[in-house]
Amino acid sequence: MKIKILFVASEVTPLAKVGGLGDVVGALPKALSKLGVDVRIITGYYGTHDEKTYPTSVIGKIFVPWNSEPLPAKIRKTVIPKSRVPVYLIDQPQVVSTGGIYDSPTAIAGSEAEVERFLFISKAAVLLPEIIKFKPDVWHLHDWHAAPVTLFLKPPHAPTLLTIHNLANQGWASSATIARAGLSVSGAKNFNLFRAGLEKADYLSTVSPTYAKEIQSAPGGEGLEDILRRRRQELTGIVNGIDTQVFNPATDRCIARRYDARHLERKFLNTTALRRLGGLDDIPGPVFGIVSRFTNQKGVDILSQAIEPFIKSKRLQFVFLGQGEKSLEDLCLGLAKLYPKFCFGKIGFDAVLAQKIYAGSDFFLMPSRFEPCGLGQLIAMRYGTIPIVRATGGLKDTVVDIAQLGGTGLVFNDFSAAALSNAIDRALALYGNRAKLKTVRRRAMRHDFSWEASAKEYLKLYKHLMK
Ligand code: GLC
Repeated sequence: MKIKILFVASEVTPLAKVGGLGDVVGALPKALSKLGVDVRIITGYYGTHDEKTYPTSVIGKIFVPWNSEPLPAKIRKTVIPKSRVPVYLIDQPQVVSTGGIYDSPTAIAGSEAEVERFLFISKAAVLLPEIIKFKPDVWHLHDWHAAPVTLFLKPPHAPTLLTIHNLANQGWASSATIARAGLSVSGAKNFNLFRAGLEKADYLSTVSPTYAKEIQSAPGGEGLEDILRRRRQELTGIVNGIDTQVFNPATDRCIARRYDARHLERKFLNTTALRRLGGLDDIPGPVFGIVSRFTNQKGVDILSQAIEPFIKSKRLQFVFLGQGEKSLEDLCLGLAKLYPKFCFGKIGFDAVLAQKIYAGSDFFLMPSRFEPCGLGQLIAMRYGTIPIVRATGGLKDTVVDIAQLGGTGLVFNDFSAAALSNAIDRALALYGNRAKLKTVRRRAMRHDFSWEASAKEYLKLYKHLMK
């Protein structure tokens, strides 16, 4: 008998993606199914769903008690492209399918409507096993959006695993919303859905071993460190992989020239193409790239401070892509305006440009304040682009500094523009040493990025929970 796992998550790449969470939920199930697991996913049918590219079919209808009335919702079905992993989408025009996945470009929960959306999806999810005739052995829930599933499940039920992708994003429900969802909670004016899930789930995991430690105290715990410390025996960190089919410089159709570790000279043509695309001067130095959500987490503030002196004095070039907080977007746009021959970028989400930046940059910047896992540094390494990262969370677990044996990147400790500048100086020195640069690039490309190892760890965890 196959093990049956039911995922509940807000995003599934490529059907609905904003950040790394979507990438994980779009890729881990494929790796699990290769291990013989029957895994299925429940998510929302958002107003932005691209029905032409990812057609769905209606397979049933449910009534979800909402505000004391049964609210009808359609169940749609599709598969993750290029796989047989079924995805069930909850289609409810008033609550779920009103717009995008989230209401804010930072993806950080703010609006009450958004909180209600995910409460609804969680409540509907609990009704699904009956409809789709799939009784899970484990419920695998992701982030605060699916945490409420633990509140709606009625015992006896299969064990629940709640994976933390980002603790900074929590999801607070007002008492009115809680009442509409039909939950009874004692005395709380604003109810923290992530906290509730972390208390109630049978087991907790997060996306790197270092982050699993960091969240057991402040500031990493974001106010939830008490529970995480208390439950540390039931908390583990499993590092994410990347989809090595999608992210492969040898087959990538989005980039100017394909290459692999044996033909690194071709990578350079991508750098030239990237410069041309952005109207940058064609000069001999390195290009530094960033692809990120522009939030407080990502260190865009220290980045813009650190990078400007290098543009001015060392003619360093800088390419950015991302969206989020306006003030951080403005910092990058400001640089692009001031130094059009050295800095260009785009505010928004653009998967094709992202690939061009991964392939065309010499170095990839991730100066994060905190980073649960981080996927950008993994993709960069896969493209032979050397990551410059702060030693936090998954960045610390996946990048080895070049001063160490087997180094694949540049790692710095303090969260400051000065520490980052120091790392950029070291990157420039590395860039000047052609032979070493090539060795580091090749080594970075050989890093094991696949989901296989992590999927095996999840499988072990599921089996442990099923005992
Ligand atoms: C969140 C985290 C990121 C992690 C991703 C997938 O976006 O910020 O570090 O890689 O989730 O787990």
